[in-house]
Amino acid sequence: MSVALYSMVNVVNHLGMKVYAIKTLLHRGEALVSERVLVRGWVRTFRNQHFIMLNDGSTAQSLQIVVNMAIFDENILKKINVGASLKVIGIVVESQGKKQDVELSAQEIEIYGEARPEEVQKTILQPKRHSLEKLREQAHLRFRTSLFSAVMRMRHHLTFAVHEYFNQHGFFYIHTPIITAADAEGVGDMFRVTALDLKNLPRDAQGQVDDKQDFFGRATYLTVSGQLEGEAAALALGKIYTFGPTFRAENSNTSRHLAEFWMIEPELAFYELQANMDLAEDFLKSLIGYVVKHCEEDIRFLNNRHLTEQMLKPKKERSGGLLACLHFVLDHRFERISYTEAINILQKSTPHRKGQFVHPVYWGVDLQSEHERYLVEKYFKSPVILFDYPAAVKAFYMRLNEDGKTVRAMDVLFPGIGEIIGGSQREERYDILLKRMDQMRIDRQALWWYLDTRRLGSVPHSGFGLGFERLVQFITGMGNIRDVIPFPRTPNHAEF
Ligand code: 4AD
Ligand code: MG
Repeated sequence: MSVALYSMVNVVNHLGMKVYAIKTLLHRGEALVSERVLVRGWVRTFRNQHFIMLNDGSTAQSLQIVVNMAIFDENILKKINVGASLKVIGIVVESQGKKQDVELSAQEIEIYGEARPEEVQKTILQPKRHSLEKLREQAHLRFRTSLFSAVMRMRHHLTFAVHEYFNQHGFFYIHTPIITAADAEGVGDMFRVTALDLKNLPRDAQGQVDDKQDFFGRATYLTVSGQLEGEAAALALGKIYTFGPTFRAENSNTSRHLAEFWMIEPELAFYELQANMDLAEDFLKSLIGYVVKHCEEDIRFLNNRHLTEQMLKPKKERSGGLLACLHFVLDHRFERISYTEAINILQKSTPHRKGQFVHPVYWGVDLQSEHERYLVEKYFKSPVILFDYPAAVKAFYMRLNEDGKTVRAMDVLFPGIGEIIGGSQREERYDILLKRMDQMRIDRQALWWYLDTRRLGSVPHSGFGLGFERLVQFITGMGNIRDVIPFPRTPNHAEF
Protein backbone atom coordinates (compact mmCIF):
# COMPACT_ATOMS: atom_id res chain seq x y z
CA MET A 1 0.00 0.00 0.00
CA SER A 2 2.67 2.49 1.03
CA VAL A 3 4.76 1.85 -2.07
CA ALA A 4 2.01 2.77 -4.50
CA LEU A 5 1.18 5.94 -2.63
CA TYR A 6 4.83 6.82 -2.31
CA SER A 7 5.44 6.33 -6.02
CA MET A 8 2.56 8.53 -7.09
CA VAL A 9 3.87 11.58 -5.29
CA ASN A 10 7.43 10.85 -6.22
CA VAL A 11 6.89 10.68 -9.93
CA VAL A 12 6.02 14.10 -11.28
CA ASN A 13 5.57 15.18 -14.84
CA HIS A 14 8.01 17.89 -15.76
CA LEU A 15 7.79 19.18 -19.34
CA GLY A 16 6.44 15.83 -20.44
CA MET A 17 9.20 14.00 -18.59
CA LYS A 18 8.81 11.72 -15.59
CA VAL A 19 10.80 12.96 -12.63
CA TYR A 20 11.74 10.13 -10.28
CA ALA A 21 12.89 10.02 -6.71
CA ILE A 22 15.85 7.65 -6.78
CA LYS A 23 14.16 5.40 -4.25
CA THR A 24 11.17 4.96 -6.53
CA LEU A 25 13.29 4.46 -9.61
CA LEU A 26 15.39 1.74 -7.97
CA HIS A 27 12.31 0.18 -6.46
CA ARG A 28 10.55 -0.10 -9.83
CA GLY A 29 13.81 -1.31 -11.32
CA GLU A 30 13.44 -3.42 -14.42
CA ALA A 31 9.86 -2.31 -14.99
CA LEU A 32 11.29 1.06 -16.08
CA VAL A 33 13.89 -0.23 -18.53
CA SER A 34 13.91 1.85 -21.77
CA GLU A 35 11.99 4.75 -20.19
CA ARG A 36 13.38 8.24 -20.49
CA VAL A 37 13.40 9.82 -17.03
CA LEU A 38 14.71 12.77 -15.10
CA VAL A 39 16.49 12.54 -11.73
CA ARG A 40 18.15 15.13 -9.53
CA GLY A 41 20.61 14.87 -6.70
CA TRP A 42 24.17 15.27 -5.46
CA VAL A 43 27.25 13.52 -6.76
CA ARG A 44 28.69 11.06 -4.26
CA THR A 45 31.49 9.81 -6.51
CA PHE A 46 32.52 10.13 -10.16
CA ARG A 47 34.64 7.16 -11.17
CA ASN A 48 36.89 7.18 -14.27
CA GLN A 49 34.95 10.11 -15.75
CA HIS A 50 32.37 7.49 -16.53
CA PHE A 51 30.25 6.44 -13.52
CA ILE A 52 28.44 8.97 -11.35
CA MET A 53 26.87 7.79 -8.12
CA LEU A 54 23.98 10.19 -7.59
CA ASN A 55 22.11 10.42 -4.29
CA ASP A 56 18.96 12.42 -3.64
CA GLY A 57 18.35 11.53 0.02
CA SER A 58 15.23 9.46 -0.66
CA THR A 59 17.19 6.28 0.05
CA ALA A 60 20.56 5.10 1.30
CA GLN A 61 21.28 3.81 -2.18
CA SER A 62 22.69 5.96 -4.96
CA LEU A 63 21.78 5.65 -8.61
CA GLN A 64 24.58 4.80 -10.98
CA ILE A 65 24.66 7.10 -13.96
CA VAL A 66 26.68 6.08 -16.97
CA VAL A 67 28.26 8.95 -18.84
CA ASN A 68 29.44 8.47 -22.37
CA MET A 69 32.25 11.00 -22.58
CA ALA A 70 31.95 11.26 -26.33
CA ILE A 71 28.52 12.91 -26.18
CA PHE A 72 29.22 15.47 -23.43
CA ASP A 73 30.97 18.76 -23.58
CA GLU A 74 34.26 18.73 -21.70
CA ASN A 75 33.19 21.85 -19.80
CA ILE A 76 30.26 19.97 -18.30
CA LEU A 77 32.35 16.92 -17.43
CA LYS A 78 34.86 19.11 -15.63
CA LYS A 79 32.14 20.38 -13.36
CA ILE A 80 30.85 16.98 -12.33
CA ASN A 81 32.68 16.67 -9.04
CA VAL A 82 31.88 15.09 -5.70
CA GLY A 83 29.30 17.29 -3.96
CA ALA A 84 27.98 18.98 -7.10
CA SER A 85 24.22 18.99 -7.70
CA LEU A 86 22.86 17.75 -11.00
CA LYS A 87 19.82 17.23 -13.11
CA VAL A 88 20.16 14.20 -15.37
CA ILE A 89 17.88 13.05 -18.15
CA GLY A 90 18.55 9.59 -19.44
CA ILE A 91 17.33 6.15 -20.37
CA VAL A 92 16.89 3.47 -17.72
CA VAL A 93 18.97 0.45 -18.68
CA GLU A 94 19.71 -2.90 -17.10
CA SER A 95 22.89 -2.66 -15.11
CA GLN A 96 26.01 -4.56 -16.11
CA GLY A 97 27.26 -4.46 -12.53
CA LYS A 98 26.02 -6.67 -9.72
CA LYS A 99 25.26 -3.92 -7.21
CA GLN A 100 22.06 -2.66 -8.79
CA ASP A 101 19.42 -3.92 -11.22
CA VAL A 102 19.20 -0.74 -13.25
CA GLU A 103 21.25 2.33 -14.01
CA LEU A 104 20.75 5.46 -16.02
CA SER A 105 22.41 6.09 -19.33
CA ALA A 106 22.79 9.88 -19.39
CA GLN A 107 21.56 11.92 -22.37
CA GLU A 108 21.48 15.39 -20.84
CA ILE A 109 23.20 16.71 -17.74
CA GLU A 110 22.64 20.09 -16.18
CA ILE A 111 24.71 21.34 -13.25
CA TYR A 112 22.66 23.18 -10.62
CA GLY A 113 25.55 24.00 -8.34
CA GLU A 114 29.23 23.24 -8.64
CA ALA A 115 31.40 22.02 -5.80
CA ARG A 116 35.03 22.83 -6.47
CA PRO A 117 37.41 19.99 -5.49
CA GLU A 118 39.66 22.31 -3.50
CA GLU A 119 36.62 23.36 -1.44
CA VAL A 120 35.29 19.81 -1.08
CA GLN A 121 38.71 18.67 0.16
CA LYS A 122 38.21 20.70 3.32
CA THR A 123 34.88 19.11 4.11
CA ILE A 124 33.32 15.83 5.09
CA LEU A 125 31.91 15.55 1.55
CA GLN A 126 35.25 14.14 0.54
CA PRO A 127 34.50 10.43 0.04
CA LYS A 128 36.53 8.78 2.77
CA ARG A 129 35.93 7.63 6.37
CA HIS A 130 35.41 10.56 8.72
CA SER A 131 35.03 10.32 12.47
CA LEU A 132 31.64 11.12 13.98
CA GLU A 133 33.27 14.05 15.82
CA LYS A 134 34.39 15.46 12.49
CA LEU A 135 30.88 15.06 11.06
CA ARG A 136 29.47 16.95 14.05
CA GLU A 137 31.75 19.90 13.35
CA GLN A 138 30.13 20.14 9.91
CA ALA A 139 26.60 19.33 10.98
CA HIS A 140 25.22 21.36 8.07
CA LEU A 141 26.88 18.95 5.62
CA ARG A 142 26.47 15.65 7.44
CA PHE A 143 22.94 15.22 6.05
CA ARG A 144 24.76 14.34 2.81
CA THR A 145 26.43 11.27 4.32
CA SER A 146 24.89 7.81 4.03
CA LEU A 147 24.99 7.35 7.78
CA PHE A 148 23.41 10.58 8.86
CA SER A 149 20.75 10.58 6.16
CA ALA A 150 19.76 7.05 7.24
CA VAL A 151 19.47 8.25 10.86
CA MET A 152 17.36 11.23 9.77
CA ARG A 153 15.01 9.06 7.75
CA MET A 154 14.59 6.74 10.74
CA ARG A 155 13.87 9.76 12.94
CA HIS A 156 11.16 10.80 10.54
CA HIS A 157 9.54 7.37 10.45
CA LEU A 158 9.63 7.12 14.23
CA THR A 159 7.91 10.49 14.58
CA PHE A 160 5.22 9.26 12.27
CA ALA A 161 4.90 5.99 14.21
CA VAL A 162 4.44 7.93 17.47
CA HIS A 163 1.53 9.94 16.10
CA GLU A 164 0.02 6.91 14.44
CA TYR A 165 0.15 4.86 17.64
CA PHE A 166 -1.56 7.51 19.73
CA ASN A 167 -4.11 8.36 17.08
CA GLN A 168 -5.08 4.71 16.79
CA HIS A 169 -5.35 4.37 20.57
CA GLY A 170 -7.64 7.34 21.15
CA PHE A 171 -5.12 9.92 22.41
CA PHE A 172 -5.33 13.61 21.55
CA TYR A 173 -2.19 15.57 20.64
CA ILE A 174 -1.86 18.60 22.92
CA HIS A 175 0.59 21.41 22.20
CA THR A 176 1.92 22.47 25.57
CA PRO A 177 3.81 25.76 25.89
CA ILE A 178 7.52 26.09 25.29
CA ILE A 179 7.81 29.25 27.35
CA THR A 180 6.56 28.58 30.86
CA ALA A 181 6.68 29.89 34.39
CA ALA A 182 6.37 26.38 35.88
CA ASP A 183 9.38 24.33 36.92
CA ALA A 184 7.70 21.02 36.07
CA GLU A 185 10.38 18.75 37.49
CA GLY A 186 11.17 20.99 40.46
CA VAL A 187 14.88 20.72 39.87
CA GLY A 188 15.70 24.24 38.76
CA ASP A 189 17.92 23.40 35.79
CA MET A 190 16.01 25.73 33.48
CA PHE A 191 17.00 28.24 30.80
CA ARG A 192 15.73 31.74 31.49
CA VAL A 193 13.70 33.49 28.80
CA THR A 194 13.86 37.24 29.05
CA ALA A 195 13.37 40.37 27.00
CA LEU A 196 15.14 42.52 29.57
CA ASP A 197 18.20 44.49 28.60
CA LEU A 198 20.91 42.47 30.32
CA LYS A 199 23.26 45.44 30.37
CA ASN A 200 20.71 47.60 32.09
CA LEU A 201 18.55 45.44 34.33
CA PRO A 202 15.61 47.02 36.18
CA ARG A 203 15.92 46.63 39.96
CA ASP A 204 13.30 46.57 42.71
CA ALA A 205 13.58 48.37 46.04
CA GLN A 206 15.73 45.52 47.44
CA GLY A 207 18.11 45.75 44.52
CA GLN A 208 16.93 42.46 43.02
CA VAL A 209 16.20 42.15 39.30
CA ASP A 210 12.59 43.26 38.84
CA ASP A 211 10.99 40.44 36.85
CA LYS A 212 7.68 42.32 36.86
CA GLN A 213 9.16 44.59 34.24
CA ASP A 214 10.02 41.68 31.98
CA PHE A 215 7.97 40.82 28.88
CA PHE A 216 5.51 38.49 30.67
CA GLY A 217 5.47 40.47 33.89
CA ARG A 218 7.23 37.58 35.64
CA ALA A 219 10.22 35.27 35.37
CA THR A 220 9.84 32.76 32.54
CA TYR A 221 11.81 29.78 31.31
CA LEU A 222 12.08 27.23 28.50
CA THR A 223 10.03 24.22 29.50
CA VAL A 224 11.69 21.10 30.93
CA SER A 225 8.52 19.03 30.39
CA GLY A 226 4.97 19.52 29.16
CA GLN A 227 3.63 17.22 31.86
CA LEU A 228 1.91 19.63 34.23
CA GLU A 229 -0.04 21.30 31.44
CA GLY A 230 -0.60 17.84 29.95
CA GLU A 231 -2.19 16.69 33.22
CA ALA A 232 -4.65 19.57 33.09
CA ALA A 233 -5.63 18.48 29.58
CA ALA A 234 -5.88 14.77 30.49
CA LEU A 235 -8.23 15.62 33.35
CA ALA A 236 -10.71 16.74 30.71
CA LEU A 237 -9.89 14.90 27.49
CA GLY A 238 -9.03 11.56 29.09
CA LYS A 239 -6.03 10.47 27.06
CA ILE A 240 -3.58 13.01 25.67
CA TYR A 241 0.04 13.19 24.59
CA THR A 242 2.56 15.90 23.96
CA PHE A 243 5.51 15.68 21.58
CA GLY A 244 7.73 18.72 21.60
CA PRO A 245 11.11 20.19 22.40
CA THR A 246 12.20 20.37 26.03
CA PHE A 247 15.21 22.08 27.52
CA ARG A 248 17.52 21.31 30.42
CA ALA A 249 20.33 23.56 31.55
CA GLU A 250 22.11 20.70 33.33
CA ASN A 251 25.82 20.50 32.77
CA SER A 252 25.83 16.85 31.66
CA ASN A 253 28.43 16.01 29.06
CA THR A 254 27.43 12.42 28.44
CA SER A 255 26.53 10.40 25.37
CA ARG A 256 22.87 10.40 26.54
CA HIS A 257 22.19 14.04 27.46
CA LEU A 258 21.23 17.03 25.36
CA ALA A 259 20.33 20.54 26.52
CA GLU A 260 17.55 20.57 23.91
CA PHE A 261 15.74 17.30 23.26
CA TRP A 262 12.32 16.14 22.15
CA MET A 263 10.04 14.40 24.58
CA ILE A 264 6.88 12.36 24.10
CA GLU A 265 4.58 12.51 27.12
CA PRO A 266 1.31 10.60 27.24
CA GLU A 267 -0.98 11.38 30.19
CA LEU A 268 -4.03 9.30 31.06
CA ALA A 269 -6.94 9.92 33.38
CA PHE A 270 -8.14 6.87 35.39
CA TYR A 271 -4.86 5.01 34.82
CA GLU A 272 -2.88 3.55 37.70
CA LEU A 273 0.75 2.53 37.63
CA GLN A 274 0.26 -1.02 36.30
CA ALA A 275 -1.70 0.21 33.30
CA ASN A 276 0.91 2.92 32.75
CA MET A 277 3.62 0.24 32.60
CA ASP A 278 1.53 -1.83 30.19
CA LEU A 279 1.19 1.20 27.95
CA ALA A 280 4.92 2.00 28.06
CA GLU A 281 5.84 -1.56 27.10
CA ASP A 282 3.28 -1.82 24.32
CA PHE A 283 4.19 1.63 22.97
CA LEU A 284 7.94 0.93 22.79
CA LYS A 285 7.45 -2.48 21.21
CA SER A 286 5.05 -1.10 18.69
CA LEU A 287 7.43 1.76 17.67
CA ILE A 288 10.31 -0.66 17.23
CA GLY A 289 8.06 -3.08 15.33
CA TYR A 290 7.01 -0.22 13.06
CA VAL A 291 10.52 0.70 11.97
CA VAL A 292 11.60 -2.92 11.58
CA LYS A 293 8.72 -3.24 9.15
CA HIS A 294 8.94 0.11 7.34
CA CYS A 295 12.64 0.98 7.33
CA GLU A 296 14.13 -2.30 6.21
CA GLU A 297 16.77 -0.79 3.96
CA ASP A 298 18.06 1.81 6.43
CA ILE A 299 18.05 -0.76 9.23
CA ARG A 300 20.08 -3.13 7.08
CA PHE A 301 22.58 -0.34 6.45
CA LEU A 302 22.75 0.61 10.14
CA ASN A 303 22.95 -3.04 11.17
CA ASN A 304 26.03 -3.54 8.99
CA ARG A 305 27.61 -0.44 10.41
CA HIS A 306 26.81 -1.57 13.94
CA LEU A 307 28.41 -4.96 13.35
CA THR A 308 31.58 -3.33 12.01
CA GLU A 309 31.72 -0.96 15.01
CA GLN A 310 31.30 -3.84 17.43
CA MET A 311 34.28 -5.66 15.93
CA LEU A 312 36.48 -2.70 16.90
CA LYS A 313 35.49 -3.03 20.56
CA PRO A 314 37.04 -5.36 23.14
CA LYS A 315 35.27 -8.72 23.08
CA LYS A 316 33.40 -8.40 26.34
CA GLU A 317 31.90 -5.01 25.45
CA ARG A 318 30.48 -6.21 22.15
CA SER A 319 26.77 -6.59 21.58
CA GLY A 320 25.16 -8.38 18.66
CA GLY A 321 24.05 -6.48 15.58
CA LEU A 322 21.42 -3.78 15.65
CA LEU A 323 18.68 -6.21 14.71
CA ALA A 324 19.64 -8.40 17.67
CA CYS A 325 19.31 -5.32 19.94
CA LEU A 326 15.87 -4.53 18.52
CA HIS A 327 14.74 -8.10 19.01
CA PHE A 328 16.07 -8.01 22.56
CA VAL A 329 13.20 -5.58 23.21
CA LEU A 330 10.61 -7.02 20.85
CA ASP A 331 10.93 -10.62 22.03
CA HIS A 332 11.11 -10.17 25.81
CA ARG A 333 8.54 -9.32 28.38
CA PHE A 334 9.84 -6.29 30.30
CA GLU A 335 10.89 -7.46 33.78
CA ARG A 336 9.08 -5.43 36.45
CA ILE A 337 10.70 -5.09 39.86
CA SER A 338 10.59 -2.57 42.67
CA TYR A 339 13.47 -0.23 43.40
CA THR A 340 13.99 -2.03 46.73
CA GLU A 341 14.35 -5.42 45.01
CA ALA A 342 16.77 -3.83 42.53
CA ILE A 343 18.94 -2.52 45.36
CA ASN A 344 19.04 -6.02 46.87
CA ILE A 345 20.11 -7.52 43.56
CA LEU A 346 22.76 -4.85 43.02
CA GLN A 347 24.17 -5.24 46.52
CA LYS A 348 24.62 -8.97 45.94
CA SER A 349 26.12 -8.46 42.48
CA THR A 350 29.71 -9.25 41.55
CA PRO A 351 30.59 -5.71 40.35
CA HIS A 352 29.36 -4.32 43.69
CA ARG A 353 31.28 -6.86 45.73
CA LYS A 354 34.41 -6.32 43.65
CA GLY A 355 34.06 -2.53 43.89
CA GLN A 356 33.64 -2.19 40.12
CA PHE A 357 30.72 0.23 40.23
CA VAL A 358 31.90 3.84 40.21
CA HIS A 359 28.83 4.99 42.19
CA PRO A 360 27.81 3.49 45.56
CA VAL A 361 24.71 1.29 45.97
CA TYR A 362 22.48 1.69 49.04
CA TRP A 363 18.75 2.12 49.63
CA GLY A 364 17.84 5.72 48.92
CA VAL A 365 20.46 6.40 46.26
CA ASP A 366 19.46 7.56 42.77
CA LEU A 367 20.53 4.75 40.44
CA GLN A 368 23.19 5.50 37.85
CA SER A 369 23.31 4.20 34.32
CA GLU A 370 26.00 1.61 35.26
CA HIS A 371 23.52 0.07 37.74
CA GLU A 372 20.63 0.22 35.30
CA ARG A 373 22.67 -1.42 32.58
CA TYR A 374 23.84 -4.18 34.94
CA LEU A 375 20.22 -5.06 35.71
CA VAL A 376 19.22 -5.09 32.04
CA GLU A 377 22.27 -6.50 30.30
CA LYS A 378 23.75 -8.85 32.89
CA TYR A 379 21.11 -9.81 35.43
CA PHE A 380 17.72 -10.02 33.71
CA LYS A 381 18.85 -9.99 30.08
CA SER A 382 15.63 -8.18 29.18
CA PRO A 383 14.32 -4.61 29.37
CA VAL A 384 13.43 -3.73 32.97
CA ILE A 385 10.79 -1.50 34.55
CA LEU A 386 11.75 -0.33 38.02
CA PHE A 387 8.99 1.10 40.21
CA ASP A 388 8.33 2.47 43.70
CA TYR A 389 11.41 4.66 44.07
CA PRO A 390 12.36 6.54 47.26
CA ALA A 391 10.32 9.75 47.40
CA ALA A 392 13.43 11.83 48.01
CA VAL A 393 15.00 11.11 44.59
CA LYS A 394 11.85 11.73 42.55
CA ALA A 395 9.68 14.72 41.60
CA PHE A 396 7.01 16.27 43.85
CA TYR A 397 4.03 15.19 41.74
CA MET A 398 4.47 11.43 42.15
CA ARG A 399 1.91 9.51 44.21
CA LEU A 400 3.03 8.63 47.71
CA ASN A 401 2.79 4.93 48.66
CA GLU A 402 1.30 3.58 51.91
CA ASP A 403 4.81 3.13 53.35
CA GLY A 404 5.24 6.92 53.34
CA LYS A 405 8.79 6.53 51.92
CA THR A 406 8.35 5.50 48.31
CA VAL A 407 6.42 6.94 45.38
CA ARG A 408 4.64 5.33 42.43
CA ALA A 409 7.44 6.13 40.00
CA MET A 410 8.51 3.95 37.11
CA ASP A 411 11.60 4.04 34.92
CA VAL A 412 11.98 1.86 31.84
CA LEU A 413 15.56 0.68 31.37
CA PHE A 414 17.07 -0.38 28.05
CA PRO A 415 20.33 -2.06 27.09
CA GLY A 416 23.11 0.35 26.19
CA ILE A 417 21.00 3.36 27.19
CA GLY A 418 19.79 2.88 30.74
CA GLU A 419 16.72 5.05 31.43
CA ILE A 420 14.67 5.58 28.27
CA ILE A 421 11.34 6.38 29.96
CA GLY A 422 10.56 8.08 33.25
CA GLY A 423 7.00 8.23 34.52
CA SER A 424 4.65 7.80 37.45
CA GLN A 425 1.19 7.66 38.82
CA ARG A 426 0.48 11.23 39.90
CA GLU A 427 -0.47 12.41 43.37
CA GLU A 428 -4.16 13.16 42.91
CA ARG A 429 -4.89 13.81 46.63
CA TYR A 430 -4.86 17.53 47.27
CA ASP A 431 -3.67 17.50 50.91
CA ILE A 432 -0.86 15.05 50.31
CA LEU A 433 0.30 16.92 47.22
CA LEU A 434 0.40 20.18 49.19
CA LYS A 435 2.47 18.55 51.90
CA ARG A 436 4.98 17.17 49.40
CA MET A 437 5.26 20.49 47.62
CA ASP A 438 6.06 22.19 50.90
CA GLN A 439 8.60 19.52 51.82
CA MET A 440 10.31 19.87 48.48
CA ARG A 441 10.10 23.69 48.52
CA ILE A 442 7.90 23.93 45.45
CA ASP A 443 6.18 27.30 45.20
CA ARG A 444 2.44 26.77 45.84
CA GLN A 445 1.61 30.17 44.45
CA ALA A 446 3.24 29.59 41.08
CA LEU A 447 1.36 26.27 40.70
CA TRP A 448 -2.07 27.47 41.89
CA TRP A 449 -3.65 26.26 38.68
CA TYR A 450 -2.08 22.79 39.01
CA LEU A 451 -3.43 22.55 42.56
CA ASP A 452 -6.84 23.54 41.22
CA THR A 453 -6.97 20.32 39.18
CA ARG A 454 -6.77 18.39 42.50
CA ARG A 455 -9.68 20.34 43.98
CA LEU A 456 -12.03 20.24 41.04
CA GLY A 457 -12.81 16.65 40.12
CA SER A 458 -9.41 15.07 40.69
CA VAL A 459 -8.99 11.45 39.56
CA PRO A 460 -6.20 8.87 39.67
CA HIS A 461 -4.02 9.45 36.63
CA SER A 462 -0.64 8.50 35.25
CA GLY A 463 1.78 9.22 32.46
CA PHE A 464 5.37 9.05 31.35
CA GLY A 465 8.03 10.79 29.29
CA LEU A 466 9.97 9.08 26.52
CA GLY A 467 13.16 10.83 25.45
CA PHE A 468 12.82 10.81 21.68
CA GLU A 469 16.56 11.01 20.97
CA ARG A 470 17.30 8.15 23.36
CA LEU A 471 14.80 6.08 21.41
CA VAL A 472 16.33 7.08 18.06
CA GLN A 473 19.74 6.26 19.54
CA PHE A 474 18.59 2.80 20.51
CA ILE A 475 16.87 2.11 17.22
CA THR A 476 19.75 3.29 15.04
CA GLY A 477 22.50 1.86 17.25
CA MET A 478 24.27 5.23 17.40
CA GLY A 479 26.58 5.50 20.40
CA ASN A 480 26.24 9.24 20.95
CA ILE A 481 22.98 11.16 21.31
CA ARG A 482 24.55 14.11 19.44
CA ASP A 483 24.42 12.00 16.29
CA VAL A 484 20.67 11.43 16.21
CA ILE A 485 19.47 15.05 16.24
CA PRO A 486 20.19 17.42 13.33
CA PHE A 487 21.84 20.22 15.31
CA PRO A 488 22.71 19.13 18.86
CA ARG A 489 22.71 21.57 21.75
CA THR A 490 25.09 20.68 24.58
CA PRO A 491 27.17 22.73 27.03
CA ASN A 492 29.35 25.10 24.98
CA HIS A 493 27.84 23.96 21.69
CA ALA A 494 25.17 25.96 19.90
CA GLU A 495 26.82 26.32 16.49
CA PHE A 496 24.54 26.36 13.44
O1 4AD B 1 12.70 11.38 33.65
P1 4AD B 1 12.34 12.72 33.08
O2 4AD B 1 13.07 13.90 33.61
O3 4AD B 1 10.78 12.85 33.29
C1 4AD B 1 10.01 13.93 33.02
O4 4AD B 1 10.38 14.96 32.52
C2 4AD B 1 8.55 13.69 33.31
N1 4AD B 1 7.87 14.99 33.36
C3 4AD B 1 7.96 12.79 32.27
C4 4AD B 1 6.51 12.46 32.51
O5 4AD B 1 6.21 11.70 33.41
N2 4AD B 1 5.61 13.01 31.72
O6 4AD B 1 12.54 12.68 31.51
C5 4AD B 1 11.85 11.73 30.74
C6 4AD B 1 12.77 11.11 29.70
C7 4AD B 1 13.95 10.36 30.28
O7 4AD B 1 13.59 9.05 30.64
C8 4AD B 1 14.94 10.39 29.14
O8 4AD B 1 14.62 9.41 28.16
C9 4AD B 1 14.67 11.75 28.53
O9 4AD B 1 13.38 12.14 28.90
N3 4AD B 1 15.64 12.76 28.97
C10 4AD B 1 16.63 13.25 28.21
N4 4AD B 1 17.00 12.97 26.95
C11 4AD B 1 18.05 13.64 26.46
N5 4AD B 1 18.75 14.58 27.13
C12 4AD B 1 18.40 14.89 28.41
N6 4AD B 1 19.08 15.84 29.06
C13 4AD B 1 17.30 14.22 29.01
N7 4AD B 1 16.69 14.28 30.21
C14 4AD B 1 15.69 13.40 30.16
MG1 MG C 1 14.00 10.44 34.92
